[in-house]
Amino acid sequence: MREFIAGLPKAELHVHHVGSASPQTVARLAARHEGTSPVPADPDKLAEYFSFTDFGHFIQVYLSVVDLIRDAADVRTLTWGVAQDLAAQNVRYAELTVTPWSSVKRGIPAEAFCEAIEDARAAAARDLNLTLNWCFDIPSEAEGMGAGQGTLAIALEQRPDGLISFGLGGPDGPRAPYQRYFDQARAAGLHSNPHAGETTDAQAVWDAVRLLGAERIGHGIRAAQDPALLEHLAEHQIPLEICPTSNVCTRAVASLDEHPLPQIVAAGVPVSINTDDPPMFSTTLGDEYAVAARLLGLDESGVADLARAGVRQSFASDAAKSAILAEIDAYAGGR
Ligand code: ADE
Ligand code: ZN
Repeated sequence: MREFIAGLPKAELHVHHVGSASPQTVARLAARHEGTSPVPADPDKLAEYFSFTDFGHFIQVYLSVVDLIRDAADVRTLTWGVAQDLAAQNVRYAELTVTPWSSVKRGIPAEAFCEAIEDARAAAARDLNLTLNWCFDIPSEAEGMGAGQGTLAIALEQRPDGLISFGLGGPDGPRAPYQRYFDQARAAGLHSNPHAGETTDAQAVWDAVRLLGAERIGHGIRAAQDPALLEHLAEHQIPLEICPTSNVCTRAVASLDEHPLPQIVAAGVPVSINTDDPPMFSTTLGDEYAVAARLLGLDESGVADLARAGVRQSFASDAAKSAILAEIDAYAGGR
Protein backbone atom coordinates (compact mmCIF):
# COMPACT_ATOMS: atom_id res chain seq x y z
CA MET A 1 0.00 0.00 0.00
CA ARG A 2 2.77 2.48 0.95
CA GLU A 3 4.46 1.92 -2.37
CA PHE A 4 1.18 2.32 -4.24
CA ILE A 5 0.48 5.61 -2.43
CA ALA A 6 4.01 6.92 -3.05
CA GLY A 7 3.69 6.46 -6.81
CA LEU A 8 0.10 7.69 -7.03
CA PRO A 9 -0.25 11.13 -8.71
CA LYS A 10 -1.85 13.35 -6.06
CA ALA A 11 -3.25 16.80 -5.30
CA GLU A 12 -2.66 18.73 -2.03
CA LEU A 13 -5.45 21.18 -1.25
CA HIS A 14 -4.56 22.20 2.31
CA VAL A 15 -0.91 22.94 2.95
CA HIS A 16 0.63 26.11 4.35
CA HIS A 17 3.54 27.89 2.72
CA VAL A 18 5.72 28.57 5.78
CA GLY A 19 4.36 25.45 7.48
CA SER A 20 5.91 23.37 4.67
CA ALA A 21 9.47 24.62 5.16
CA SER A 22 11.74 21.58 5.53
CA PRO A 23 13.75 21.21 8.78
CA GLN A 24 16.89 21.97 6.74
CA THR A 25 15.40 25.24 5.43
CA VAL A 26 14.16 26.25 8.89
CA ALA A 27 17.52 25.39 10.49
CA ARG A 28 19.42 27.36 7.84
CA LEU A 29 17.23 30.42 8.34
CA ALA A 30 17.45 30.06 12.13
CA ALA A 31 21.27 29.94 11.93
CA ARG A 32 21.23 33.21 9.99
CA HIS A 33 19.18 34.88 12.70
CA GLU A 34 20.71 33.18 15.74
CA GLY A 35 20.34 35.25 18.87
CA THR A 36 17.20 36.98 17.60
CA SER A 37 15.01 33.88 17.20
CA PRO A 38 13.90 31.09 19.56
CA VAL A 39 13.95 28.58 16.65
CA PRO A 40 16.80 26.03 17.02
CA ALA A 41 19.45 26.15 14.31
CA ASP A 42 20.01 22.38 14.63
CA PRO A 43 17.58 20.27 12.50
CA ASP A 44 17.70 17.49 15.13
CA LYS A 45 16.43 19.87 17.81
CA LEU A 46 13.51 20.98 15.67
CA ALA A 47 11.46 17.84 16.34
CA GLU A 48 11.38 18.77 20.00
CA TYR A 49 10.63 22.43 19.20
CA PHE A 50 7.76 21.22 16.97
CA SER A 51 5.99 19.44 19.83
CA PHE A 52 2.85 21.32 20.78
CA THR A 53 0.99 21.51 24.06
CA ASP A 54 -2.18 22.91 22.45
CA PHE A 55 -3.41 24.88 19.43
CA GLY A 56 -2.34 28.24 20.92
CA HIS A 57 1.20 26.95 21.43
CA PHE A 58 1.26 25.65 17.84
CA ILE A 59 0.35 29.12 16.49
CA GLN A 60 3.05 30.71 18.68
CA VAL A 61 5.71 28.32 17.31
CA TYR A 62 4.39 28.77 13.76
CA LEU A 63 4.80 32.54 14.03
CA SER A 64 8.37 32.17 15.27
CA VAL A 65 9.13 30.38 11.99
CA VAL A 66 7.24 33.03 9.97
CA ASP A 67 9.53 35.54 11.65
CA LEU A 68 12.59 33.90 10.04
CA ILE A 69 11.40 34.92 6.56
CA ARG A 70 12.97 38.35 6.25
CA ASP A 71 13.33 39.19 2.55
CA ALA A 72 12.15 38.22 -0.93
CA ALA A 73 15.11 35.88 -1.43
CA ASP A 74 13.96 33.92 1.66
CA VAL A 75 10.47 33.73 0.14
CA ARG A 76 11.85 32.40 -3.17
CA THR A 77 14.06 29.82 -1.41
CA LEU A 78 11.21 28.69 0.82
CA THR A 79 8.71 28.35 -2.04
CA TRP A 80 11.11 26.49 -4.31
CA GLY A 81 12.04 24.08 -1.51
CA VAL A 82 8.36 23.39 -0.84
CA ALA A 83 7.75 22.77 -4.55
CA GLN A 84 10.63 20.27 -4.69
CA ASP A 85 9.31 18.40 -1.64
CA LEU A 86 5.80 18.22 -3.14
CA ALA A 87 7.06 17.01 -6.53
CA ALA A 88 9.22 14.33 -4.86
CA GLN A 89 5.99 12.80 -3.48
CA ASN A 90 4.32 12.73 -6.90
CA VAL A 91 2.10 15.69 -6.05
CA ARG A 92 1.09 17.11 -9.43
CA TYR A 93 -1.10 19.95 -8.20
CA ALA A 94 -1.09 21.93 -4.95
CA GLU A 95 -3.01 24.87 -3.58
CA LEU A 96 -0.59 26.47 -1.17
CA THR A 97 -2.07 28.61 1.59
CA VAL A 98 0.09 31.71 1.63
CA THR A 99 -0.15 34.45 4.28
CA PRO A 100 1.35 37.49 2.55
CA TRP A 101 0.20 39.91 5.25
CA SER A 102 2.50 38.31 7.85
CA SER A 103 5.53 38.96 5.63
CA VAL A 104 4.45 42.37 4.34
CA LYS A 105 3.87 43.48 7.92
CA ARG A 106 7.44 42.39 8.69
CA GLY A 107 8.77 44.64 5.92
CA ILE A 108 8.83 42.60 2.69
CA PRO A 109 7.17 44.69 -0.06
CA ALA A 110 3.99 43.04 -1.41
CA GLU A 111 5.20 43.22 -5.01
CA ALA A 112 8.54 41.57 -4.22
CA PHE A 113 6.76 38.90 -2.15
CA CYS A 114 4.41 38.05 -5.04
CA GLU A 115 7.24 38.08 -7.59
CA ALA A 116 9.19 35.61 -5.45
CA ILE A 117 6.35 33.09 -5.15
CA GLU A 118 5.46 33.47 -8.85
CA ASP A 119 9.07 32.88 -9.83
CA ALA A 120 9.06 29.57 -7.92
CA ARG A 121 5.64 28.71 -9.38
CA ALA A 122 6.92 29.15 -12.95
CA ALA A 123 10.00 27.04 -12.20
CA ALA A 124 7.83 24.29 -10.64
CA ALA A 125 5.63 24.11 -13.75
CA ARG A 126 8.66 24.10 -16.04
CA ASP A 127 11.01 21.78 -14.16
CA LEU A 128 8.94 19.68 -11.73
CA ASN A 129 5.69 18.81 -13.57
CA LEU A 130 3.94 20.53 -10.65
CA THR A 131 1.15 23.11 -10.88
CA LEU A 132 1.03 25.46 -7.89
CA ASN A 133 -1.83 27.83 -7.12
CA TRP A 134 -2.24 30.17 -4.18
CA CYS A 135 -4.86 30.66 -1.50
CA PHE A 136 -4.10 34.01 0.19
CA ASP A 137 -5.37 33.75 3.75
CA ILE A 138 -6.09 36.27 6.47
CA PRO A 139 -4.14 35.44 9.67
CA SER A 140 -6.81 35.69 12.35
CA GLU A 141 -4.17 35.81 15.11
CA ALA A 142 -3.07 39.25 13.86
CA GLU A 143 -4.38 42.13 15.90
CA GLY A 144 -7.52 43.93 14.77
CA MET A 145 -8.95 43.96 11.28
CA GLY A 146 -5.81 45.32 9.56
CA ALA A 147 -4.95 41.78 8.52
CA GLY A 148 -8.26 41.41 6.66
CA GLN A 149 -7.96 44.68 4.78
CA GLY A 150 -4.23 44.16 4.22
CA THR A 151 -4.62 40.65 2.81
CA LEU A 152 -7.47 41.76 0.55
CA ALA A 153 -5.44 44.73 -0.74
CA ILE A 154 -2.42 42.54 -1.55
CA ALA A 155 -4.67 40.00 -3.30
CA LEU A 156 -6.52 42.52 -5.44
CA GLU A 157 -3.67 44.94 -6.15
CA GLN A 158 -0.98 42.36 -6.90
CA ARG A 159 -3.26 39.60 -8.25
CA PRO A 160 -0.45 37.13 -8.98
CA ASP A 161 -1.22 34.64 -11.77
CA GLY A 162 -1.48 31.68 -9.38
CA LEU A 163 -3.94 33.32 -7.00
CA ILE A 164 -7.23 31.46 -7.10
CA SER A 165 -8.78 31.62 -3.64
CA PHE A 166 -9.17 33.61 -0.44
CA GLY A 167 -8.84 32.04 3.00
CA LEU A 168 -8.85 32.59 6.74
CA GLY A 169 -6.36 30.83 9.05
CA GLY A 170 -5.02 31.14 12.56
CA PRO A 171 -7.10 30.42 15.64
CA ASP A 172 -10.67 29.32 15.03
CA GLY A 173 -13.40 31.70 16.16
CA PRO A 174 -16.21 33.94 14.95
CA ARG A 175 -16.25 34.18 11.15
CA ALA A 176 -18.70 37.11 10.88
CA PRO A 177 -16.09 39.90 11.22
CA TYR A 178 -14.40 38.66 8.06
CA GLN A 179 -17.49 38.65 5.86
CA ARG A 180 -16.81 41.99 4.17
CA TYR A 181 -13.35 40.89 3.02
CA PHE A 182 -14.72 37.65 1.63
CA ASP A 183 -17.54 39.54 -0.12
CA GLN A 184 -14.99 41.68 -1.93
CA ALA A 185 -12.62 38.82 -2.72
CA ARG A 186 -15.48 36.74 -4.15
CA ALA A 187 -16.78 39.71 -6.17
CA ALA A 188 -13.27 39.90 -7.68
CA GLY A 189 -13.54 36.25 -8.78
CA LEU A 190 -11.61 34.46 -6.04
CA HIS A 191 -12.91 31.20 -4.59
CA SER A 192 -13.84 31.17 -0.89
CA ASN A 193 -11.77 28.65 1.09
CA PRO A 194 -11.62 29.49 4.82
CA HIS A 195 -10.53 27.36 7.75
CA ALA A 196 -13.44 26.74 10.13
CA GLY A 197 -14.44 24.26 12.81
CA GLU A 198 -10.89 23.03 13.41
CA THR A 199 -10.86 23.45 17.21
CA THR A 200 -14.12 25.20 18.13
CA ASP A 201 -17.56 24.09 17.04
CA ALA A 202 -19.98 23.42 14.23
CA GLN A 203 -21.22 27.02 14.34
CA ALA A 204 -17.92 28.21 12.87
CA VAL A 205 -18.56 25.91 9.88
CA TRP A 206 -22.14 27.17 9.46
CA ASP A 207 -20.78 30.74 9.51
CA ALA A 208 -18.10 29.89 6.96
CA VAL A 209 -20.80 28.52 4.65
CA ARG A 210 -23.46 31.15 5.23
CA LEU A 211 -21.41 34.30 5.79
CA LEU A 212 -18.19 33.66 3.89
CA GLY A 213 -19.68 31.65 1.01
CA ALA A 214 -17.21 28.81 1.60
CA GLU A 215 -16.88 26.50 -1.41
CA ARG A 216 -14.43 24.28 0.46
CA ILE A 217 -13.54 24.30 4.14
CA GLY A 218 -10.18 23.90 5.85
CA HIS A 219 -10.60 21.12 8.44
CA GLY A 220 -14.30 21.58 9.31
CA ILE A 221 -14.06 18.50 11.51
CA ARG A 222 -16.35 19.96 14.19
CA ALA A 223 -19.17 19.49 11.66
CA ALA A 224 -19.25 15.92 12.96
CA GLN A 225 -21.00 17.25 16.07
CA ASP A 226 -23.98 18.50 14.06
CA PRO A 227 -26.01 16.04 11.93
CA ALA A 228 -27.94 18.89 10.22
CA LEU A 229 -24.65 20.47 9.16
CA LEU A 230 -23.30 17.17 7.82
CA GLU A 231 -26.50 16.83 5.82
CA HIS A 232 -26.11 20.38 4.48
CA LEU A 233 -22.49 19.81 3.44
CA ALA A 234 -23.44 16.54 1.76
CA GLU A 235 -26.48 18.00 -0.02
CA HIS A 236 -24.52 21.01 -1.33
CA GLN A 237 -21.36 18.95 -1.88
CA ILE A 238 -19.16 21.35 0.09
CA PRO A 239 -15.90 19.46 0.67
CA LEU A 240 -13.84 19.36 3.86
CA GLU A 241 -10.04 19.38 3.67
CA ILE A 242 -9.07 16.75 6.23
CA CYS A 243 -5.59 16.75 7.83
CA PRO A 244 -5.68 13.89 10.37
CA THR A 245 -2.19 14.07 11.89
CA SER A 246 -2.34 17.86 12.19
CA ASN A 247 -5.50 17.52 14.26
CA VAL A 248 -3.75 15.18 16.69
CA CYS A 249 -0.54 17.28 16.89
CA THR A 250 -2.46 20.50 17.65
CA ARG A 251 -4.67 18.53 20.06
CA ALA A 252 -7.81 19.35 18.07
CA VAL A 253 -8.62 15.62 18.37
CA ALA A 254 -7.33 13.27 21.07
CA SER A 255 -5.98 10.52 18.80
CA LEU A 256 -6.11 9.27 15.21
CA ASP A 257 -8.48 6.51 16.26
CA GLU A 258 -10.93 9.12 17.53
CA HIS A 259 -10.72 11.23 14.35
CA PRO A 260 -14.21 11.93 12.92
CA LEU A 261 -13.15 11.25 9.29
CA PRO A 262 -15.12 7.96 9.06
CA GLN A 263 -18.27 9.62 10.37
CA ILE A 264 -17.92 12.55 7.96
CA VAL A 265 -17.42 10.20 4.98
CA ALA A 266 -20.34 8.00 6.07
CA ALA A 267 -22.56 11.10 6.05
CA GLY A 268 -21.77 11.63 2.35
CA VAL A 269 -19.65 14.77 2.82
CA PRO A 270 -16.92 15.04 0.16
CA VAL A 271 -13.37 15.04 1.60
CA SER A 272 -9.79 15.42 0.48
CA ILE A 273 -6.73 14.22 2.42
CA ASN A 274 -4.01 16.76 3.19
CA THR A 275 -1.04 17.59 5.43
CA ASP A 276 -1.50 21.21 6.70
CA ASP A 277 2.10 21.84 7.91
CA PRO A 278 3.92 18.57 7.17
CA PRO A 279 7.41 19.00 8.73
CA MET A 280 5.90 20.60 11.84
CA PHE A 281 3.74 17.50 12.29
CA SER A 282 6.43 15.04 11.10
CA THR A 283 4.18 13.86 8.32
CA THR A 284 3.94 13.64 4.53
CA LEU A 285 1.01 13.41 2.15
CA GLY A 286 1.80 9.71 1.74
CA ASP A 287 1.55 9.25 5.52
CA GLU A 288 -1.83 11.01 5.57
CA TYR A 289 -3.16 8.79 2.76
CA ALA A 290 -2.00 5.73 4.72
CA VAL A 291 -3.77 7.02 7.84
CA ALA A 292 -6.95 7.66 5.85
CA ALA A 293 -6.77 4.20 4.28
CA ARG A 294 -6.56 2.67 7.75
CA LEU A 295 -9.34 4.78 9.26
CA LEU A 296 -11.65 4.20 6.29
CA GLY A 297 -10.64 0.58 5.60
CA LEU A 298 -9.65 1.34 1.99
CA ASP A 299 -7.85 -0.88 -0.50
CA GLU A 300 -5.73 0.49 -3.37
CA SER A 301 -8.82 1.22 -5.42
CA GLY A 302 -10.31 3.25 -2.55
CA VAL A 303 -7.07 5.17 -2.14
CA ALA A 304 -7.00 5.97 -5.86
CA ASP A 305 -10.55 7.31 -5.46
CA LEU A 306 -9.34 9.58 -2.63
CA ALA A 307 -6.70 10.99 -4.97
CA ARG A 308 -9.35 11.51 -7.68
CA ALA A 309 -11.57 13.30 -5.16
CA GLY A 310 -8.76 15.74 -4.30
CA VAL A 311 -8.29 16.58 -7.97
CA ARG A 312 -12.03 17.01 -8.61
CA GLN A 313 -12.51 19.22 -5.53
CA SER A 314 -9.59 21.46 -6.48
CA PHE A 315 -9.85 24.87 -8.11
CA ALA A 316 -7.55 23.74 -10.95
CA SER A 317 -8.57 24.38 -14.55
CA ASP A 318 -10.64 21.66 -16.22
CA ALA A 319 -7.70 20.85 -18.48
CA ALA A 320 -5.34 20.41 -15.50
CA LYS A 321 -7.90 18.23 -13.70
CA SER A 322 -8.41 15.99 -16.76
CA ALA A 323 -4.68 15.56 -17.22
CA ILE A 324 -4.08 14.47 -13.60
CA LEU A 325 -7.18 12.23 -13.54
CA ALA A 326 -5.89 10.51 -16.69
CA GLU A 327 -2.52 10.01 -14.97
CA ILE A 328 -4.23 8.48 -11.94
CA ASP A 329 -6.23 6.13 -14.19
CA ALA A 330 -3.09 5.09 -16.04
CA TYR A 331 -1.23 4.45 -12.76
CA ALA A 332 -4.06 2.68 -10.94
CA GLY A 333 -5.12 0.59 -13.93
CA GLY A 334 -8.54 -0.89 -13.29
CA ARG A 335 -8.35 0.09 -9.61
N1 ADE B 1 -1.80 28.14 10.01
C1 ADE B 1 -0.93 27.13 9.83
N2 ADE B 1 -1.50 25.98 10.19
C2 ADE B 1 -2.76 26.26 10.61
C3 ADE B 1 -3.84 25.51 11.11
N3 ADE B 1 -3.75 24.18 11.28
N4 ADE B 1 -4.96 26.14 11.45
C4 ADE B 1 -5.05 27.46 11.32
N5 ADE B 1 -4.07 28.23 10.85
C5 ADE B 1 -2.93 27.64 10.49
ZN1 ZN C 1 -4.43 24.93 7.83
